[in-house]
Amino acid sequence: MLEIDNLTVAYGKHVALDAVSMAVQPGECVVILGANGAGKSSLLKTVGGVVEPRSGRISHEGTDLATVAAHDRVGRGIALVPEGRGIFPRMSVAENLALGTYPERARAGVAARQAEVFELFPRLAERRRQLAGTMSGGEQQMVAIARALMSNPDILLLDEPSLGLAPIVVKEVFAALARIRSTGLTLVIVEQNVRASLALADRGYLLEAGRVVGQGSSDALQNDPAVQRAFLGGTSEPLDNEIS
Ligand SMILES: Nc1ncnc2c1ncn2[C@@H]1O[C@H](COP(=O)(O)OP(=O)(O)O)[C@@H](O)[C@H]1O
Ligand SMILES: [Mg+2]
Repeated sequence: MLEIDNLTVAYGKHVALDAVSMAVQPGECVVILGANGAGKSSLLKTVGGVVEPRSGRISHEGTDLATVAAHDRVGRGIALVPEGRGIFPRMSVAENLALGTYPERARAGVAARQAEVFELFPRLAERRRQLAGTMSGGEQQMVAIARALMSNPDILLLDEPSLGLAPIVVKEVFAALARIRSTGLTLVIVEQNVRASLALADRGYLLEAGRVVGQGSSDALQNDPAVQRAFLGGTSEPLDNEIS
């Protein structure tokens, strides 16, 4: 579904991703782990077309994404939920969701998709008229995910969906992601919450300073010393403090 081959991304002289290769199969849930500054957001932004690679190739269902403009990627089924959510605070929940429906692929069956999204997130149904900016952090994250789902994606990219949320809310967001996963949608999740994301994912990659330094099944990564190292003494919470 997604193939990343020798991807290098740099901001001026600073190399954020150094020859990164990975692949995601249809229906998989893949987590990208890494401490702050490892290059996780740069990776998702490059797939989403927000950042241009210096070299390397990303292909989506066999098409080289270098030939696909950023705004056409969502039309191809690639939906990015950015770090910080990117919702419109002065618009209602329903208006935010409607913004997700602009790609051609999303225009048929909007009502049915909205019903599905409201089934996934009942709280958004209750609050469809509320201004998104007045909702809690967790609810805003749900709006962001719901909006991405409204674009009828075949791959959903999530950048630290649990960032800044209280543990109980993190649990709720991951429970929603598990329900989305069970629909068969392909998921790529960037996270610092190691336990919760490995519990959700089939497998993952560990990024360190822009390089892939580990990969494997969720079970293997859970016990990988490099994973422990990346999250101990970093800015993220130690493993012991994370929810399971
Ligand atoms: N727009 C930018 N300009 C310059 N440096 C950047 C920019 N965005 C990210 N970086 C740098 O690239 C590295 C990787 O950043 P990022 O991809 O955001 O990492 P992560 O999401 O894993 O925290 C960091 O050192 C960061 O400071
Ligand atoms: Mg980031």
